[in-house]
Amino acid sequence: MPLARSLSVTSLSGLEEWDEEFDLEDAVLFEIAWEVANKVGGIYTVIQTKARLTAEEWGENYFLVGPYVESNVRTQVELIEPTNPALKSTIDKMNRSGCKVYFGRWLIEGSPYVILIDVGFTAWSLDRWKSELWENCAIGVPWFDREANDAVLFGFLTAWLLGEVRAQCEEPPHILAHFHEWLAGLGLVLCRQRQLPVATIFTTHATLLGRYLCAGNVDFYNNLAEFNVDKEAGDRQIYHRYCLERAAARCAHVFTTVSQITAIEAEHLLKRKPDIVTPNGLNVKKFSAMHEFQNLHAQSKNRIQEFIRGHFYGHLDFNLDKCLFLFIAGRYEFSNKGADIFLEALARLNYLLRVNHSDVTVIAFFIMPARTNNFNVETLKGQAVRKQLWDTAQTVKERFGKKLYESLLVGQLPDVSKMLDKEDFTIMKRAIFATQRQCQPPICTHNMLEDSSDPILNCIRRIGLFNSSADRVKIIFHPEFLSSTSPLLPMDYEEFVRGCHLGVFPSYYEPWGYTPAECTVMGIPSISTNLSGFGCFMEEHIADPSAYGIYILDRRYRGVDESCNQLTSFLFQFCKQSRRQRIIQRNRTERLSDLLDWRYLGRVRLQSQKLKAHIRWCGSSEPIYASGFRYPRPASVPPSPALSRHSSPHHSEAEDNDDEDERYDEDLEAEKDRMNIRQPVALNCLRTQC
Ligand code: UDP
Ligand code: G6P
Ligand code: GLC
Repeated sequence: MPLARSLSVTSLSGLEEWDEEFDLEDAVLFEIAWEVANKVGGIYTVIQTKARLTAEEWGENYFLVGPYVESNVRTQVELIEPTNPALKSTIDKMNRSGCKVYFGRWLIEGSPYVILIDVGFTAWSLDRWKSELWENCAIGVPWFDREANDAVLFGFLTAWLLGEVRAQCEEPPHILAHFHEWLAGLGLVLCRQRQLPVATIFTTHATLLGRYLCAGNVDFYNNLAEFNVDKEAGDRQIYHRYCLERAAARCAHVFTTVSQITAIEAEHLLKRKPDIVTPNGLNVKKFSAMHEFQNLHAQSKNRIQEFIRGHFYGHLDFNLDKCLFLFIAGRYEFSNKGADIFLEALARLNYLLRVNHSDVTVIAFFIMPARTNNFNVETLKGQAVRKQLWDTAQTVKERFGKKLYESLLVGQLPDVSKMLDKEDFTIMKRAIFATQRQCQPPICTHNMLEDSSDPILNCIRRIGLFNSSADRVKIIFHPEFLSSTSPLLPMDYEEFVRGCHLGVFPSYYEPWGYTPAECTVMGIPSISTNLSGFGCFMEEHIADPSAYGIYILDRRYRGVDESCNQLTSFLFQFCKQSRRQRIIQRNRTERLSDLLDWRYLGRVRLQSQKLKAHIRWCGSSEPIYASGFRYPRPASVPPSPALSRHSSPHHSEAEDNDDEDERYDEDLEAEKDRMNIRQPVALNCLRTQC
């Protein structure tokens, strides 16, 4: 491994002068990631949701460093003059030397400072820096790998920035630099190689090789110890990226990852055991009104139903009130994210619902960005037709109302048979004719650029789920992340999730998996797997996850077909629940939010960030991990929602909600006391813990 030649993981270079008890007041934290103010996937969510707490703790001494992307800056960042004099002179100096570095506030909760670097502007240095990388670290980056080229530019620029900040201070503070993922990792390697007195943390959110191997249908988990990593990386033409990643993991003073399962993977593939496992959290919003999240579900569901009315115009032969909305969302990695077994399970579910003459219709959404050239005409037309029907109904309603009003004005009850005239009928008939359609409602909402080779579309072609009337399972593939400004489905992702009934994330490769975690804090049940960080975390901390609407699919000890059967069975059981059972289940799910709140998980996360010299990479010790708490099955919860019926069949939904609430509140209060998570963890107490 080239890096081993020049750098040693046990080297203390640069940190000798660090006093173990140094004061945080005298420390500055830089958090460096390609996804700072730049949404790609879950790393953005990590940084964005944790920003408020981190900014509260570090105040003016917290800076996020990311790439400058103009479209993002225009919508998310307020550019300002740097407040810190050393930083101001650093940025000025870099800008005078041919860089473009911006400073601002990221407009998210906590409004953290961001330093954004335009890597393209410094592309003239690429060849020089690549040679330097080769000479000093023996890593060669080929010209055609654009992402790796960006990683080189970003790495050299961040190392320059950190070195310069120190140089600009008369009394340099303790600098902590936390780098996320391989794309940002080179900055760390250079800090070590240049012996900058900067304490470094590297967090891997996945390993490159793990992602590639799993996507290639390898029996990954049974062969972790066997892979010839250099060869595997070479075969996949990612050897240079792999070297950058492994170098960062190896050189970091503290190496962390997001789940136990990825810790084991990293140990085998990156050849270093993570020192700390820092599970990902969320910024949990608590509503003052008890049932606010249930109301939000109903509101968002109405909006999804509106979309469905348009999408299925001319084929609305199913009862929307008995329609369940399922979804899968995230980076488009067909088998890693489990879209393959989800589709297969949907085909089996369709069969089961049909043979059992179920009146439930399932609509499964696939929200996974792919290459497209915009929405397709048929999909847009659906919404236009729906709008036209709505407008027609409004016009006729107004004319009807006017006649009614006039009749009442002269003291007469209207003659109902004359309230609608010929013209009204003509308008209505024309509107109905417009809803005729020769084709089935479309599967895909966009024009796909690679339609014939797209894995989701090809799988749908094979299983034959084409949104026909006879099918009880319909599919909508939306190959773009959701946005509230979309002309088709104008909802942001959070609103959409709230309106759905079940999130389905049967991933094979998923270091953490934010999507099911986000479902949980919004009170939406989800399916994840025992190969995902989230699934394992929940399995470890909850005695009976499925009682809380957290279904964990076994993909570890079962074959694909067996897992697919288990998934089908989860889905079929879910379809058999009554509305009341779903409401109760959502209440249970939402009550797990605290478990995923940064305020609690932060205890572990911040430990790693404060990285004192004395935590130093004790190579042989077990990873530090949040442990020692477990949500029991609440005493009041019967084994299955199906058994939680009232003795009397006559009761309202509001009663259902209240009843469950009371029983759970008692359980929950007792639990919170036991786990000591009632209050946000006090920052001072965090300091002393470290
Ligand atoms: N997401 C989004 N808009 C969408 C669909 C997904 O912002 O329309 C976000 C979602 O909120 C989640 C992230 O994409 O935070 C996916 O993260 P995850 O950790 O599940 O997977 P990754 O894509 O990082 O592998
Ligand atoms: C929430 C609302 C109820 C609504 C229910 C629908 O609980 O508060 O008023 O009836 O959602 O639930 P469903 O699972 O059928 O979408
Ligand atoms: C990566 C992983 C995902 C994780 C996210 C945040 O993108 O694929 O599982 O949730 O990072 O840690």
